[in-house]
Amino acid sequence: MKTNTRILLFPFLGTLLAGGFLMDAAAADIATLIAPCEDCHGKDGASEEPKIPTIGGYSAIYITDSLAVYRDKTRPCEDVKYPAGKHKGETTNMCEVAKNLSDEESGLVAEHYAGKPFVRAKQSFDAELAKVGKGIHALECKKCHEDGGSSSDDDAGILAGQWMPYLQDQFEEYTTGKRPMTKKMKPKIEKLSADDIKALIQYYGSFQ
Ligand code: HEC
Ligand code: HEC
Repeated sequence: MKTNTRILLFPFLGTLLAGGFLMDAAAADIATLIAPCEDCHGKDGASEEPKIPTIGGYSAIYITDSLAVYRDKTRPCEDVKYPAGKHKGETTNMCEVAKNLSDEESGLVAEHYAGKPFVRAKQSFDAELAKVGKGIHALECKKCHEDGGSSSDDDAGILAGQWMPYLQDQFEEYTTGKRPMTKKMKPKIEKLSADDIKALIQYYGSFQ
């Protein structure tokens, strides 16, 4: 949309863009594209920040879909400060990040992270609660989140070994209706008690 406006306003720049000259030059440099991602999500998308999810090893489809829902703001974007890098301490959010990527760039970034291993977070968990969570998962969640939610093949994110504080935030957004859910997951999430959610989070955190 932005490009179209520019083409109308600046015929010369429009011609350059239409020729793909600027687009290709920008898209080709994967290192430049992922530099801000790495500052927050960690090297190769393996996060060291409990509130920032690990994204290395997610499926390309999950990543492009996520960037799309951030871009159109159907998924909420909490403000977050860069924990490292040249923007350290500056505030932004995923909607702002996604807004600046073209479809082509989103695809490139997604392919890049899909090719990295998912590194499980080292975090402490309650083994008793994790056992309870395992039972709930097997009953309600396994169908779409296989092997404890450790497979990227089901395009539903990775739960096993994801940061527990991040997951806690997501459950809060789901249960308060801020983050939209697929129709089939909604009834499953809505019938969970607060204790069920606590146990599920401990279960996912127990994969290390
Ligand atoms: C300033 C920090 C920051 C930057 C820069 C950033 N992210 Fe994020 N990202 C986050 C936070 C925090 C969340 C989770 C919170 C939320 O949903 O608002 C997130 C969530 C995501 C998710 C969803 C993960 C899931 O499990 O659903 C994806 C995918 C993602 N980011 C990809 C990227 C990519 C690709 C880039 C670079 C183009 C990037 N992020 C840049 C902080 C950042
Ligand atoms: C019918 C399939 C389905 C079922 C059943 C299901 N989910 Fe999901 N889940 C998904 C899909 C698809 C996503 C991808 C993101 C989205 O649509 O919100 C997802 C995403 C998630 C996320 C966010 C992952 C991230 O990286 O941010 C969590 C947490 C989650 N599910 C937990 C659960 C739990 C707990 C259960 C069982 C009580 C469950 N899901 C049952 C399909 C399902």
